[in-house]
Amino acid sequence: MNTPRSQAPSGPIHMVDLQGLHRRLRRELDRAMDEVLQESAFIRGRHVSAFEAKLSATLPLDAHVVGCGNGTDALYLALRALGVGPGDEVIVPDFSFIATAEVVAEVGATPVFADIDPRTFNLDPASAERARSPRTKALIVVHLFGQCANMDALVPWAQEHGLRLVEDNAQSLGAVYCGVNVHGPAGTLGDMGCTSFFPSKNLGALGDGGAVMARNADLADRARLVANHGAKHKYHHLEVGINSRLDGLQAAFLNVKLDHYHDLIARRQAAADRYDAMLAGSAVGTPHRGPHSSHVFHQYCVMLPASCDRSAVQDALKAQGIPTAVYYPGALSAQPAMAEVGRVAEGETPVSQNAAARILALPMHTELTEDIQAFVVEQLSRTLSVV
Ligand SMILES: Cc1ncc(COP(=O)(O)O)c(C=O)c1O
Repeated sequence: MNTPRSQAPSGPIHMVDLQGLHRRLRRELDRAMDEVLQESAFIRGRHVSAFEAKLSATLPLDAHVVGCGNGTDALYLALRALGVGPGDEVIVPDFSFIATAEVVAEVGATPVFADIDPRTFNLDPASAERARSPRTKALIVVHLFGQCANMDALVPWAQEHGLRLVEDNAQSLGAVYCGVNVHGPAGTLGDMGCTSFFPSKNLGALGDGGAVMARNADLADRARLVANHGAKHKYHHLEVGINSRLDGLQAAFLNVKLDHYHDLIARRQAAADRYDAMLAGSAVGTPHRGPHSSHVFHQYCVMLPASCDRSAVQDALKAQGIPTAVYYPGALSAQPAMAEVGRVAEGETPVSQNAAARILALPMHTELTEDIQAFVVEQLSRTLSVV
């Protein structure tokens, strides 16, 4: 491992340095806040529609964007728009945040857990095929940690079997897939894309927020309808919906951050490159970068050696002021909440379980400096030599 002798940084090390980011953008954020307060129009309004158009133009998505309350709602709205409901099965990766599976149960369908690729941690097309049944209506592909799943295989496969494809793009907004069969920005590669603006996400609000994206205007309209109590016009409710809104203040903040989005991603990618170089030859597995997707590094996750006690590593790093996190400590199918509502693909999900046991996320954010990273890597190396 290439470990320069480094000093402990003078300030605290953050897993995600939102304070640092917001210090840099403070004046622009203050101005946005002022504008919203002046107008005091907090629900819907011009900041929300401006954001929806600007998100599409900036990435660029060339899609209809529907702002909503959070990323979980975005997934729920997509499933509702696609007509997924009771009696249907939806294939999901067994290694993701709970929202990916939770929404399937919320619409009354059954989540079926498929395994992941051991290198990218994204849905394994072969396991997805083993999860398929005559009841399968859709799949939710998660582009985990910042990199697209194998869409070259999954998109034609979904088309062949008449399955609707939802992308859970909460962690990969801005990633681009350039495959043999499939090209384009994450979120536009299937029927509908869903993202989250949770504060620590790559495009984070100062509170909750989310969006659904679709190139098909009818699907986007359907998502908007369900998000608005099932109503197109006030007090005329066509179906049972929910209340899920991106509020004007969050949209105004997100508009500010969108102006910096490409730079924010470039900073994450530069930090990932530095980690890669510093960890070259080490005992940990560094993130694999697939040939067809850019990686926007929402997380920088390493795989610890199988023999290693992960909690001991985390404790030792914490003692040096270095935070780490585990995304995710268990497979979704092992969650008590999923015991009654889901089933596991034939062949089970050993790769998801192995990842859950060994994965470790290192600090990753837009303000990360080489000094901090050198210290993190040096301490990780020391720790691994003793645990
Ligand atoms: C992969 C994934 N899906 C869905 C979500 C849900 O987003 P939210 O927290 O905005 O509801 C998240 C974020 O936490 C996520 O990481």
